[in-house]
Amino acid sequence: MVKKITEVLDQYVADLFAQEDEALQWIQAEADRHDLPAISIRADEGRLLQTLMLAIGAKKAIEIGALAGYSGVWMARALPADGHLYSVEKSSKHAKIVRASFEKAGVAHKADVMEGSAMDMLRKLEGKAPFDFIFIDADKAAYKDYLAWSIEHLRVGGMVTAHNAFREGRIVNLQSDEDRAMDAFNRSLANNPRLESTIIGVGDGLAVGIKKG
Ligand SMILES: C[S@@+](CC[C@H](N)C(=O)[O-])C[C@H]1O[C@@H](n2cnc3c(N)ncnc32)[C@H](O)[C@@H]1O
Repeated sequence: MVKKITEVLDQYVADLFAQEDEALQWIQAEADRHDLPAISIRADEGRLLQTLMLAIGAKKAIEIGALAGYSGVWMARALPADGHLYSVEKSSKHAKIVRASFEKAGVAHKADVMEGSAMDMLRKLEGKAPFDFIFIDADKAAYKDYLAWSIEHLRVGGMVTAHNAFREGRIVNLQSDEDRAMDAFNRSLANNPRLESTIIGVGDGLAVGIKKG
């Protein structure tokens, strides 16, 4: 089958800028071995998260939705030695794999797995606010709640990001409640006066908002 030009260009970027090391490959194999769905970010999306984190000098970060720890490792690696990642995951099966992944990748000393429902875990994290960077990649119905929490708990100049902004193209042809929730999220991001925002068209679309002063 002939590949689309966008796929060829994505591969070009991934080959040049987002090579997976042995630990990242191990995590994907481990996810497969435990029958987890193949719904992690891609390597080029991981590299984009790192680039954004480095651009704003992120030291304190949260990810909401960890799966097997793949995105968490990309994020933790973009943190300085005194930085910290709080990785929130409600499934205890997934959280156990995430802990093993963080050990395997050598980032366990700067990444905590917070096991439980995201809103409960975010409430527990309030004492550590303000945060520099938040990555949302969990239940779409709650993205708007995670956004509201993020705006209150980011520093000025901090960044909230959200995965699957394009819903593999369905964002312009809504077919499910999840698609509609993502569309509502994108619209509330676009219209929020406390954020400068856009969607970066890498992978499945990364929605991005920077908190204004
Ligand atoms: C798309 S996967 C995350 C992929 C991961 N960010 C990556 O790229 O490697 C979504 C994860 O969110 C978790 N999740 C879903 N709803 C959640 C909730 N309300 N609170 C915390 N975690 C949740 C799921 O168990 C799943 O592991």
